[in-house]
Amino acid sequence: MFSPQGPTARELMVQALSSVERGYDLLAARFDETPFRTSDRLLAAVSDALLPLGPFGRGLDLCCGTGAGLSVLEAVCTDAITGVDFSTGMLAEARRAHPAATLVRANVLALPFTSVFDLAVSFGAFGHFLPKEQGPLFARVHAALRPGGTFAFPLPAPPRVGSLPYWTLFGFDAVMRVRNAVRRPPFVMYYRTFRLADVRANLERAGFTVELLPMESLGRRDDGSPQCRLVVARRA
Ligand SMILES: C[S@@+](CC[C@H](N)C(=O)[O-])C[C@H]1O[C@@H](n2cnc3c(N)ncnc32)[C@H](O)[C@@H]1O
Repeated sequence: MFSPQGPTARELMVQALSSVERGYDLLAARFDETPFRTSDRLLAAVSDALLPLGPFGRGLDLCCGTGAGLSVLEAVCTDAITGVDFSTGMLAEARRAHPAATLVRANVLALPFTSVFDLAVSFGAFGHFLPKEQGPLFARVHAALRPGGTFAFPLPAPPRVGSLPYWTLFGFDAVMRVRNAVRRPPFVMYYRTFRLADVRANLERAGFTVELLPMESLGRRDDGSPQCRLVVARRA
């Protein structure tokens, strides 16, 4: 699927029937050939949006996978960078691509850092968390940042209700709910659970002040709203 080097449909099916951690271990070697890896275009847009907000010292990429977000940290951080993920397979790929980064195997819901980082980023992973896990996750990130530190991530606008992308994501989430109702361990991956209003409220509850920056290089929708915003959450 996706490209000759990408995973087969059968491999993707086996991944989806595993736990999240095991699923990514199985997919790791071919992950970069899938559309699930954050695109270079989005990574470049985030780097461009972060540069004027810096300089940042130490950087952290949450759910780093094969290291897409580590390249953003390399561009905007002046000090050591760290990636955290719970998939050993994904971390092995990240190690190959970013030998200078520190890579830590951990569940980000139990992030093992206190007041260490000046910048935390995350890409393409929030669908792996249930709405009730958002608050605890943001609280862990808040604790991992130094006072004045920044947590930043892109948040694309949701597809218009009734459009083809809307029904595609709706259908995907429905299939995952059925899968998770009948099979253990669950594979938590939902596209429609990470909503701006909830995200903002949960960030503020965790102690962040939140700013939304339109990412102009990614364009605007017909109604003039940005295709994608950079959420910039600061620890006071
Ligand atoms: C879709 S991949 C995104 C990888 C990379 N950030 C990117 O944008 O290409 C999601 C990653 O999140 C990791 N992940 C999911 N839940 C996690 C958790 N609770 N703790 C640590 N890593 C997690 C998975 O192992 C996987 O590598």
